[in-house]
Amino acid sequence: MSLNLFDDAEQSRVWHEELCPGALVLRHFALSYEPAIFAALDEIAAQTPFRHMVTPGGFTMSVAMTSCGSYGWVTDRRGYRYDKVDPLSGKQWPVLPEVFRKLAEDAAARAGFADFAPDACLINRYAAGARLSLHQDKDERDIGQPIVSVSLGIPAIFLFGGACREDKTQRIQLTHGDVVVWGGPARLHFHGISPLKEAHHPLTGDVRINLTFRKAT
Ligand code: SIN
Ligand code: FE2
Repeated sequence: MSLNLFDDAEQSRVWHEELCPGALVLRHFALSYEPAIFAALDEIAAQTPFRHMVTPGGFTMSVAMTSCGSYGWVTDRRGYRYDKVDPLSGKQWPVLPEVFRKLAEDAAARAGFADFAPDACLINRYAAGARLSLHQDKDERDIGQPIVSVSLGIPAIFLFGGACREDKTQRIQLTHGDVVVWGGPARLHFHGISPLKEAHHPLTGDVRINLTFRKAT
């Protein structure tokens, strides 16, 4: 299958917005990878279904999640962690599709992180009303590597704060194809997603899908 990764017309519609030193939104960056992304997503969800996990405090998350790559992010009553095995199936997570790796590496490079080597991709699915409260991504061993976060489907408001939970947060609307990259001085900044409003997107229906690439180990 031709991935059509370097369609000039698509790439010329990409622009970036800096949130703070080390954090950028690459508008429309994922659009040229789109058909291959959706084909890969369907295969992953068939092997490792989306599920609502439970936090250590006993809350069921409103966001449904699954993973691919060498490690998947999981939470249960025992805590948050990266695991090589999907606790639902007892099997390894599906391999990171080539188009996912390429998208993540290209976006990181575009944002100035040339050596990004993701080994984990958390896949979040948000229906209307789902949210993700402010948190830091700090379960990864090497915080020298950035986070690359791809938005697909219906829009969301991304909250991006500072190094302290109390810091003021920016509210950024993310739409289909936008990619956020944060690393360096912004790597441990607090972030989250406001409750999603009802909407419809021709490719995802009434949900938002977010791919978050990390170097977990
Ligand atoms: C995350 O922080 O894991 C996901 C953020 C998003 O859904 O954009
Ligand atoms: Fe996060």
